[in-house]
Amino acid sequence: MNILVVGAGYVGLVTAACLSSKDNTVVCVDTDPSKIARLEKGIIPIYEPGLKEVVDASIAAGRLKFADGIKSGLTLLTSEADVPTLIFIAVGTPQGEDGSADLRYVLAAAKEIGQALTGPAIIINKSTVPVGTADLVKGEVAWQLFNRKCFIDFDVASNPEFLKEGAAIDDFFNPDRIVIGTQSDKTRDQLLKLYKPYVKNDSQLLTVGVKEAELIKYASNAMLATRISFMNEIANVCDRFGINVEDVRVGMGTDSRIGPAFLRPGCGYGGSCFPKDVQALVRIAQSVGVDPIVLNGVEARNKKQKQYLFEQIVAKMGKDLDGRHICVWGLAFKPDTDDMREASSIDLIRALCAAGATVTAHDPVAKEVAENVFADLLRNAKLTIVEDPVIAARNADAVVLVTEWVQYKTIDFNKVKQSVRQAVIFDGRNHLDPSALKAIGFAYSGVGRA
Ligand SMILES: NC(=O)c1ccc[n+]([C@@H]2O[C@H](COP(=O)([O-])OP(=O)(O)OC[C@H]3O[C@@H](n4cnc5c(N)ncnc54)[C@H](O)[C@@H]3O)[C@@H](O)[C@H]2O)c1
Repeated sequence: MNILVVGAGYVGLVTAACLSSKDNTVVCVDTDPSKIARLEKGIIPIYEPGLKEVVDASIAAGRLKFADGIKSGLTLLTSEADVPTLIFIAVGTPQGEDGSADLRYVLAAAKEIGQALTGPAIIINKSTVPVGTADLVKGEVAWQLFNRKCFIDFDVASNPEFLKEGAAIDDFFNPDRIVIGTQSDKTRDQLLKLYKPYVKNDSQLLTVGVKEAELIKYASNAMLATRISFMNEIANVCDRFGINVEDVRVGMGTDSRIGPAFLRPGCGYGGSCFPKDVQALVRIAQSVGVDPIVLNGVEARNKKQKQYLFEQIVAKMGKDLDGRHICVWGLAFKPDTDDMREASSIDLIRALCAAGATVTAHDPVAKEVAENVFADLLRNAKLTIVEDPVIAARNADAVVLVTEWVQYKTIDFNKVKQSVRQAVIFDGRNHLDPSALKAIGFAYSGVGRA
């Protein structure tokens, strides 16, 4: 099939690469010229394990190309007159000022599509968008075609993305399910045909209405965020009782009705999805007169949880951290990505510096991204980012683990102990072995882990 993917970010680039790996011809476009220039030179602008290999193979096979706009991208695809081009919209839907999803990039893409279409198309929303967005996209494209006095057959479908950053390639090739939201049999059949090679059995292809598909994405992310916030609340209860949340977690997660996933307590969820999607679902519910009591609680607990580590540090060291030096391990919002959007490390590092501390941080891959996020703190020497976690711990009054990179498990803690000023570890993800650390002489505190 001929496919145009609009947006070369985490979702767009992965989609373009994986779709082009199975005999489709794909052009991926982005409005950011530097991204396209890097991609054309074979440089992947994001950190995503396995992505470069898939991109390189598709480029070499002539099935994947890049362009700097929808119009130029479409000219690279030579569709037969009666075969629709599939156009995936995978642009950002950031949080608007009132918490709702900001659709400006989606609607700008729709406008450009309407201005550029020359043949039949199926436009597929892969971006996470509120219920009713497919209708808005349809209206925008139809309006542009009307202005051009063009009569081109097109349809709009919803196909939300469920990939996990850090495991995106595997998720695309081995999905739990693929949700296809359509109103027409013809569109549904095209998308079923496209995705059939990506599933082991047909029951993994869920066909629903467009609005149902739009809501499935938000409801899924909000459910996962709910489990995390719920467990964080339980961890706080454990703290007060002086009991171990890890035992409680295992005891709960082994119940087959509950299951173990997304029950790990920590220092709050971040990333480009959960925070904004919970907020957006709050607004969606409110827009139809539903009071989102549960969702508001999920959000409130997460905000509070992001202060957890700072509060623990202050409880141990006092409010005034002037002259204190803190080591932070992990800057990305989760392991195996360089994405720092809404990362818990941001709240923590800013709070530490505001309280007078200096910070040395380490992350296996997010250093470059972090240098942009923390440009101000780096400029005034409140923060230093280094390449080695043991060097980051030098002269530290406390080591704080924020992201559970697997590398941190195998650090030589004897070496760390020799270089710190005080052997104190705050483990914001319950990632390290408390008994091993205590045996070396560290004071250890986790989250709800008495
Ligand atoms: N990142 C994830 O893990 C993930 C997972 C599932 C769903 N989603 C959703 O997918 C969507 C995209 O997320 P992302 O993380 O890939 O975003 P991103 O910010 O990484 O990428 C979006 C890209 O779209 C480009 N863009 C914007 N307008 C454009 C236009 N008119 N034409 C061409 N390119 C344009 C931007 O320059 C950017 O490169 C969002 O709605 C997000 O909520 C993200």
